[in-house]
Parts: sequence; C-alpha cells; structure tokens
Amino acid sequence: MKTERLDAHNPEHLKRAGELLRAGELVAVPTETVYGLAADATNPDAVRKIFAAKGRPTDHPLITHIASAEQLSHWVKTVPEWVKPLAEAFWPGPLTLLFERHPNVSDAITGGLPTIGIRVPDHPVLLPLLRTFNLAVAAPSANLYQKLSPTSADQVMAGLDGRIAAVLDGGPCGVGTESTILKVGDQDAEILRCGPIAAEQLQPYLTVPVRTPETHEHSVSGNKKVHYQPDARVILCPTEELATRLAAAGPDCIALVYSTAQETLPGKQLKRMPADHQGYRQALYASLYELDCSGTQTLLVEMPPEDAAWADIRDRLTRASAC
Ligand code: TXA
Ligand code: MG
Repeated sequence: MKTERLDAHNPEHLKRAGELLRAGELVAVPTETVYGLAADATNPDAVRKIFAAKGRPTDHPLITHIASAEQLSHWVKTVPEWVKPLAEAFWPGPLTLLFERHPNVSDAITGGLPTIGIRVPDHPVLLPLLRTFNLAVAAPSANLYQKLSPTSADQVMAGLDGRIAAVLDGGPCGVGTESTILKVGDQDAEILRCGPIAAEQLQPYLTVPVRTPETHEHSVSGNKKVHYQPDARVILCPTEELATRLAAAGPDCIALVYSTAQETLPGKQLKRMPADHQGYRQALYASLYELDCSGTQTLLVEMPPEDAAWADIRDRLTRASAC
C-alpha cells in the first residue's frame, strides 16, 4: 500500500483525510499529545485494521476521540454526575476518561472490556476534522507496537509507511506525551496512566476517592514495564553522577541533560533539553527519535526533577530504561 502524505494546511488534503476515514481506511492524524492512528469508530472492520498495522495484540483497547462531550451518550452507558465538571474543565484536552461502555460499542474498540476510553482532542486540525465529517475515531498512538509514540508526521512514516492509507501532517505535537487516563466510577476513580495533566490538577474536581495503583494493569498497554522504548539503551542517571558516567562511557554515548549543572562537562556529546517540564515533554520523543536515527547506542538521561508536574516524564523515561 502506498501511504499518502497529506498536508493539514491544504483544504483538499483535509477533505481527502475525512473521506479516507469515512471509507474505512486508516489515517494517522495529529493530536495535541502524539500522533494517533485513526479509524472510524463506528466501523469495526476499519478499527480491526489498526491492530494489523501496528502489530498490536487485539485485546488491547483503543481510545475513542469524539468532537464534544455531547456525543458521550453514544459511547458510554452513564456519565456519573461528578464527572461532568471534570470533563468540562479538561476537554478538549489530554485527559482520557474510562467509562462503562454503551452496549452498542464494538468489542474491536474495547478489546472485549466492559469499559471505553474517551477523549476530546484539543487540536486545531483534528477537532474541526471530527466536526466537519461527523466522525468519532478510535486511535492509539501511531507507532509500531512497543516503539516510541510519534510527535511528527516523519516519525509516523518511519514506522508505518506502506501499512496505512495516509498520514495527515499537522506539524509537531504541542504537548508531547500521551494523555492522562482516569477510570471513572459512580463512587470512585483511578489514575491508570499519568500524563500531561498531573494528579494535583485533577484534584479539585475529584469529589470521590481516587486510587493511583502501584501495580500495572495488563489492559493498559502503555502501562507495561517495557514500553516507549527507543532502540538505544537508556540509562537514567542522577545529576551528580553524570560527569563520572560520561567520562567512563564510549564515544557512541550521548547524555540528555536539562540542568545547568552540566554546563561544565568537557568534550562530551550532550543533548540539551528544555529545563521546564512543558518544553521538556514536548521535546522528549522527538529527541529520543533523533538520537536513534543518529546511531546513538547508549543514552545517559539526567534524572528529571521529583516534583509532580514531571511525573509522566519520569514514568516514560523509567519505562524506556526498563529491560
Ligand atoms: O494521548 C493519547 O492518549 C494518544 C492520542 C493518540 O490520543 N493515544 C494513546 O493511545 O496513547 P494508546 O492506545 O497508545 O494508549 C492508550 C492506552 C492503552 O494503554 C490502552 O490499553 C488504554 O489506553 N485503554 C484504552 N481503553 C481502555 C479501557 N477500556 N480499559 C483500560 N485501558 C484502556
Ligand atoms: Mg501507544
């Protein structure tokens, strides 16, 4: 299959993306978090193609992206009252809510689970596309199974060229890590994946007890210990040990650093990252991908700060370094 490259700034191309999706084809689309591999969520045959293209096990459920909270009733059984202000506060945005699913929802989306993950994406290309074509799309991240999530159309093509109908190029993703996932019940809630919206931002809206489990559920593939892995070996390293580790490392080792403590490191290859969590998050996957392409074998990653706003970044890097 030849993968078409569509430009999100070209109205004809946008139309083509909508038509392909309507016709049951797979189109990689930009979201504010990472690129998603989209299929018409009302078409189970189209949704099934996602698993083949990604090489992903079919029991791993997919997030459904809708144009507005008003469409929730098509997809979920009930929306607990306490969830409404939460959805209003964070949608459109990088928050996926897991509800009990509507009986009409296809098993192809939920992997046979009784729940469905939903979000309204905050993206200037995808959101109007969903509205114009009256679409809801099931979309996991647009990468091969267990590889890095893509934050650019080039990165999508590197993994999926020839396996999908098209990629809609909307430029780099603004946020950079996958959405926060919150499972919502009538009387409780559970954070299943930390993401760009930190637990403390959710807190004011959580009027029910919240669990943040240590154990990782099989049903959340992003929660597998080994996930989000670049090809290079990733080693997380405390700031104060970086100089010694770098001095002992071979020439194909690069250090990913954010703090000014590293400014004095002599004659070694450093990749500087933004020192604020938003900038770092946005650059993270693009940087890992770029280093992979440059043939880097070992990546010494300066341990990110401990505070809550960096939790998803620490999580992704810990998984990238797991073996
Ligand atoms: O930011 C994001 O969430 C991106 C963009 C494209 O929206 N999507 C994304 O999808 O990261 P994916 O499939 O790579 O990760 C979604 C995670 C998976 O780990 C999946 O297992 C979990 O959400 N998930 C989806 N529906 C679920 C359900 N009903 N129960 C439990 N986990 C679910
Ligand atoms: Mg993924």
